[in-house]
Amino acid sequence: MSGPFEAVKISDHVYWVGAIDWGIRDFHGYSTFRGSTYNAYLIVADDVILIDTVKAPFKDELLSRVASVTEPRNIKYIISNHSEMDHSGSLPRVIAEVEPEKVFASPNGVKALAAHFHMDREITAVKDGENLALGGVNLSFLETRMLHWPDSMVTYVAEDRLLFSQDGFGMHLATAERFADEIDECAIVEEGAKYYANILTPYSALVTKLIERVGSLGIRIDVLCPDHGPIWRKDPGKIIGLWSKWAEQAPTGKALVVYDTMWGSTEKMARAISEGLIDGGATALVMPLHSCHRSDVATELLEAGALLVGTPTINNSVFPTVADVIAYLKGLKFKNLIGAVFGSYGWSGEGHKLLNDELASMKVEIVADPMAVNYVPDGEALDRCRGLGLAVAKKLKEVVKGGS
Ligand code: FEO
Repeated sequence: MSGPFEAVKISDHVYWVGAIDWGIRDFHGYSTFRGSTYNAYLIVADDVILIDTVKAPFKDELLSRVASVTEPRNIKYIISNHSEMDHSGSLPRVIAEVEPEKVFASPNGVKALAAHFHMDREITAVKDGENLALGGVNLSFLETRMLHWPDSMVTYVAEDRLLFSQDGFGMHLATAERFADEIDECAIVEEGAKYYANILTPYSALVTKLIERVGSLGIRIDVLCPDHGPIWRKDPGKIIGLWSKWAEQAPTGKALVVYDTMWGSTEKMARAISEGLIDGGATALVMPLHSCHRSDVATELLEAGALLVGTPTINNSVFPTVADVIAYLKGLKFKNLIGAVFGSYGWSGEGHKLLNDELASMKVEIVADPMAVNYVPDGEALDRCRGLGLAVAKKLKEVVKGGS
């Protein structure tokens, strides 16, 4: 009896044996409202090879799916493409139960696994570009350093023209279906963009280089198997093309207005600014931080051209939710944005000045002086806010036209 979980066959030699996490809603600060999957794979040829494992609580689900194909102790080799704990958390216990002959990882993966688990067993390092005939299949390993950890690598199976891409081309999306061609395309594009925006944006230059490198190697990828979300068996070029586009971050006519408010004044300013943006021809999207999650702001920013941020001054500083989102976006290193700052203040008025410095340090091109209002905006102040929206929309048009 193998248990309730079944493997899913995906190519001549490969099965999906991962786990579905229907309930996860927070992935280290990134909201995952559609859950996620931790995809692990089994190559069944002359020998049995496990590619990655799953998050620790899902170990039994993984081994139950393996057991639907073969006795887990038949696993002779394990390949760890990425040591982050959503893929390695159950590795020590799987090794203890299965007792594989060898475990492989990149050189940085060997170090990272040692630093995580302090295991008393050897992990074999495979080099960038190394080819290995293993268990009846021909495997090639490519290091993908900082995509998105130093240890990251991908593994190609020549016989099935299949790439195990670890986090690459993945998304947090829990579904009963395993293949992208079975899932609503809108959900895929939305969750794919969210994953890219919240995980990969700082490494966009490396994404572009990797896609070029794989292209130059002339390898054909018929099946693309990421460690999260759907498997691409029909058109892997679709998600690769989307990643290429997201890596560019070409500015669009979309302007995000992100703010929080204490007594409604900064909110009034945000609404007047958005009217100006709309009248000026921009696509305005207003995101109040008391009701929008930081990771959704990042997602919307991926395909935007302007970022306008508003804060009241509180205790000589920026409002906490605004400080949170700015710290988050700063780390993600978005590029090709213009922007401006606004906000209400009572007496000292440091908030908008500090925020302006933060936006400048994020390399956002500031296109207007901070718009500040004492206490509550009157009609004249709201007209000035509307004027700020119009001015940003005008500049955005020039930027988008200049880039097309
Ligand atoms: Fe899905 Fe970087 O772990």
